[in-house]
Amino acid sequence: MSEKGKTQDLVTKLYENRDLTDEEFKTLLETDEYDEALFEKAVQVRKEHYGDKVYLRGLIEYTNYCKNNCNYCGIRKSNQNLERYRLSKEQILECCKEGYELGYRTFVLQGGEDIYFKDEILCDIISDIHREYPDCAITISAGERSKASYQKMFDAGATRYLLRHEAADDSLYRKLHPGTMSLDNRKKCLFDLKEIGYQVGAGFMVGAPYQTTENLIADLRFLQELEPDMIGIGPYIKHKDTPYKWFSNGSMELTLRLLAILRLMFPYVLLPSTTALGTIDPQGRELGLQAGANVVMPNLSPVDVRDKYTLYENKICTGEESAQCRSCLEMRVKAAGYEVVTDRGDVKR
Ligand code: 5AD
Ligand code: FES
Repeated sequence: MSEKGKTQDLVTKLYENRDLTDEEFKTLLETDEYDEALFEKAVQVRKEHYGDKVYLRGLIEYTNYCKNNCNYCGIRKSNQNLERYRLSKEQILECCKEGYELGYRTFVLQGGEDIYFKDEILCDIISDIHREYPDCAITISAGERSKASYQKMFDAGATRYLLRHEAADDSLYRKLHPGTMSLDNRKKCLFDLKEIGYQVGAGFMVGAPYQTTENLIADLRFLQELEPDMIGIGPYIKHKDTPYKWFSNGSMELTLRLLAILRLMFPYVLLPSTTALGTIDPQGRELGLQAGANVVMPNLSPVDVRDKYTLYENKICTGEESAQCRSCLEMRVKAAGYEVVTDRGDVKR
């Protein structure tokens, strides 16, 4: 078979089977030879399932306090070089109000693992949002909690939960995280969330310190087992106040390749083109859409706290000029040829 025939073959096989052998995934991941065919197919599949629609989710970064010490993360507990903040319920509701007026019907409350936000406090906020905006989907991203806690938040009105698994390989997981955290517990949280009935998002960083191709394949296998509704991936980006500041950033090319692979493996999945991707390349998020992504998450947080939610360096959409992140992002999405959608945009299984 000709070289061209071979490349089409592997991509076609992934498209048809939604799966490949480990060895085939390795081939696909380790060269750029298949990229063109891969992106083309991924865009086709996204179109089949979602048309040209790109879903907007209003992101509210409500606290940068965190009890954990992940080796890659800028808001890790031992980072003393960071001014900490937490939004009040009133501030959070104000963000929702602003978002609602702009048409947003999904709010994502994301924060560090902040012990201040006990179940009672978080649930009170969730029920208030739910009462005021019953037509909106409430997504929580607040890290690992007990199943009882997840249940209470669900009962209060949250229906979606984002918790990246970060690394499905145990030894990589342990390199990235402090001894107080474990992959087993991470997985347990994800399955608890599913059992309760949440739409669940998992995911990982691309090019994380020590990550190998085999590790990435383990991530794909874990996702097959979990069958999440959403998958968040983005390049690892270093932060000067972390132990891993010496590692280089993940690459855009590999991130795009993985987005396309994920689209072919999980045709229905909600796949964000992330802020991290937009941070390593000014055109990153647009290119993410051309590789099969179908969600973007403009920042709705108050402008004065934006530069404090610094998971990594040079994060975009944090300056004064980004007060209108929403219109900026909407413009970008439209300019890239997509239709901006602000409704709830539930997963289409
Ligand atoms: N670079 C890229 N992504 C990061 N995250 C945390 N720190 C970094 C970093 N340095 C990601 C994690 C987390 C999500 C909210 O942000 O995957 O789950
Ligand atoms: Fe956020 Fe442009 S997309 S400021």
